[in-house]
Amino acid sequence: MTEPGPAPEGATAPPPPPVIEFHGVGLTYPGPPPVPALLPCDLTVLTGDYVTVVGPSGSGKSTFLNIAGLLDRPTSGRYLLDGVDTGAVGDAGRTALRGRRIGFVFQSFHLLPHRSALENVTLALLYNGTPRGQRLALAREALERVGLGHRLDAVPSRLSGGERQRVAIARAVVARPSLLLCDEPTGNLDTVTAESVLSLLDQLHGEGMTLLVITHDREVAARGRRTVTIRDGVLREREQQHEESGVRT
Ligand SMILES: Nc1ncnc2c1ncn2[C@@H]1O[C@H](COP(=O)(O)OP(=O)(O)OP(=O)(O)O)[C@@H](O)[C@H]1O
Ligand SMILES: [Mg+2]
Repeated sequence: MTEPGPAPEGATAPPPPPVIEFHGVGLTYPGPPPVPALLPCDLTVLTGDYVTVVGPSGSGKSTFLNIAGLLDRPTSGRYLLDGVDTGAVGDAGRTALRGRRIGFVFQSFHLLPHRSALENVTLALLYNGTPRGQRLALAREALERVGLGHRLDAVPSRLSGGERQRVAIARAVVARPSLLLCDEPTGNLDTVTAESVLSLLDQLHGEGMTLLVITHDREVAARGRRTVTIRDGVLREREQQHEESGVRT
């Protein structure tokens, strides 16, 4: 067999597919009574986008995020993740896709209480094919990136709220996912601590990570490049989007 040669001069790689493509994606919880939590919607999120999601409590934000994160299957429509039609993928395949391509950060951190920061992050590499010998080094590097290189051995109860959330972010990004999903990542944090978490998200966005962040907070929403609103299950792109210049709407 011959090795594939170098790409011909002047050839450019095709652009990557959108990270998220929703075509008429909706979810009705079966009930009884059935709850139409997300009405069929279209949405495209490109690589490197930073999308914030706002809306009142109970409007369907987490439902939307759980579909995007392959935790729930939509009851209508098609969802393509990195060009992969997720509806055609079985449960094991979805778990594998999630492990490789998606990182989650939740309001209440969801760290294992009796494991150190380093162990919490290392565990995220257990089921995604990372060779055993590389896991510790990658986890250490991820914790150093979030400014916690000096707290590797601390258990969550010995860390501040902001530090816990930074461990959760390190865990979410250690496997280099294409998409980082955050559900109220600063909801449990005071303003100053929240700012350190938000700057970390800005930094990840600056490095090319695609972010989808749910928030109740207008200021947090304005950190994104785009905001979508969800009300009574209806998802809409907000018309006036944020300026690239840093002038926030
Ligand atoms: N498993 C479920 N079964 C039935 N209904 C559900 C289920 N989960 C959520 N719902 C309903 O779906 C709707 C949307 O819920 P969702 O959790 O997406 O709201 P949310 O916008 O994230 O709210 P919050 O800001 O309070 O977190 C709500 O009416 C909720 O009661
Ligand atoms: Mg929610």
